[in-house]
Amino acid sequence: MPVILVVDDEPLQRDILKTILDSEGYETHTAASGKEALSIIENTHPDVILSDLRMEGMDGIELLDAIPRKPFEPSIIIITAHGTISSAVEAVRKGAFDYLTKPLNKDTLLLNVRRAVERATLLRENIHLQKELFGKFNIEGIIGKSANMQRTVEVLKKVSPSSVTVLITGESGTGKELVARAIHYNSPRRTKPFTAINCAAIPDNLFESELFGHEAGAFTGAVSRKEGLFKITNGGTLFLDEIGDLSLPMQSKLLRVLQDKEIRRVGGKEAIKVDVRIITATNKDLEKELGEGHFREDLYYRLKIVSIKLPPLRERLGDVPELATFFVDKYNREFGRRIRGIESRALKLLCGYQWPGNIRQLETVIERAVLMNDKDIITAGDIENDLWALRLKNSFDMDIPDEGIDFENLEKELMKKALAKANGVASKAAKLLGMSYKTFLYRLDKFRLNGHSKKIE
Ligand SMILES: Nc1ncnc2c1ncn2[C@@H]1O[C@H](COP(=O)(O)OP(=O)(O)OP(=O)(O)O)[C@@H](O)[C@H]1O
Ligand SMILES: [Mg+2]
Repeated sequence: MPVILVVDDEPLQRDILKTILDSEGYETHTAASGKEALSIIENTHPDVILSDLRMEGMDGIELLDAIPRKPFEPSIIIITAHGTISSAVEAVRKGAFDYLTKPLNKDTLLLNVRRAVERATLLRENIHLQKELFGKFNIEGIIGKSANMQRTVEVLKKVSPSSVTVLITGESGTGKELVARAIHYNSPRRTKPFTAINCAAIPDNLFESELFGHEAGAFTGAVSRKEGLFKITNGGTLFLDEIGDLSLPMQSKLLRVLQDKEIRRVGGKEAIKVDVRIITATNKDLEKELGEGHFREDLYYRLKIVSIKLPPLRERLGDVPELATFFVDKYNREFGRRIRGIESRALKLLCGYQWPGNIRQLETVIERAVLMNDKDIITAGDIENDLWALRLKNSFDMDIPDEGIDFENLEKELMKKALAKANGVASKAAKLLGMSYKTFLYRLDKFRLNGHSKKIE
């Protein structure tokens, strides 16, 4: 329902307008002064504001200047008496949608209001679309006020304009792909392709032809020539995800391209020049992989000219409210809901969780809460069950609740679980818990769990 605000210091005029607009199905608010209007605007974000020109205190023009145009621009109609038309014209020049002269004619009024609503709705939709298209991968759109995220954003701003390779590391769900896209869409390459490929998902024998292409007849099944991703992405950015899973032979092939800046199709002789920026990501510890001989050192240093380490969400829990609100908006749009926000008790729950699956996990919890919700606010009850299920699944990184825990009982339960898993074999159960056999037997006795162990050998 479109929202309209009537601003007039004459009570009778306010009432008449409200009656007319209410009866047309608008949600109408009224304000007796510019100051009151501004506070109503902040809370209701009206589509249309009908304001008298001459008012005590702040007049219509001053109000027009003070009305915030963000996040949405309302259509403003100025109402004026005959003698002050020149001021009304000035108002239009300053951005008012239209002006109406007193005495008001009901039909003219309604026609103008309808048009003003249409314009405000269009603007609102446009802003959404633009935000979605450009804002999605805008560096400013990467949410995180925490110090470690802000540092990341600073690095992003610096590296985006160049073509240096960037290695992005971070646990699963911390935003590695989002960051890779932000770099591309904020670089001079933004109008050229961004291609993402998951190194872990492509078998070795196909990887080469995927990346470099092949000639007809290069191998069984290569019926015709195929261009590879390097060629297709020429001028743009190639995002190699899960680079830590690339096999050693493929690592050498990639290294050669980085050195020579040219590729050869599988089965082809011709060297093809390519200009592709490489961004890679992994949730593996590449330094460790180097040490174990699973990753080439020379490639590693070529890939991490700049390296960006994304912090896990649990190290920036202060960002949870903003992220959660962002996801409420996102899924409101996706599911056509109008949820206003998240109740403070629910936010507290969200901020108290350790999020082993990071931002992606938070996003899933909010997505479900928005989908299942039939109220206009997300309550603690809506997310409690989800968090409880997640906690159980990750019970070993469980928080200690305020009321504390019964540690002996927990230990006893864990021993029972280990015994069940080890089919009652005490030595195996001890191993599962990282306990010495002697300690395990001692505790078995102490907790009178001997009955749970079939074999004490
Ligand atoms: N800072 C952020 N602000 C807003 N949304 C974010 C942010 N970081 C991540 N997201 C969102 O969280 C989700 C997961 O991010 P992304 O896919 O980039 O993570 P990832 O690190 O690549 O995960 P994985 O290792 O599992 O592939 C995406 O929907 C992404 O848009
Ligand atoms: Mg990813």
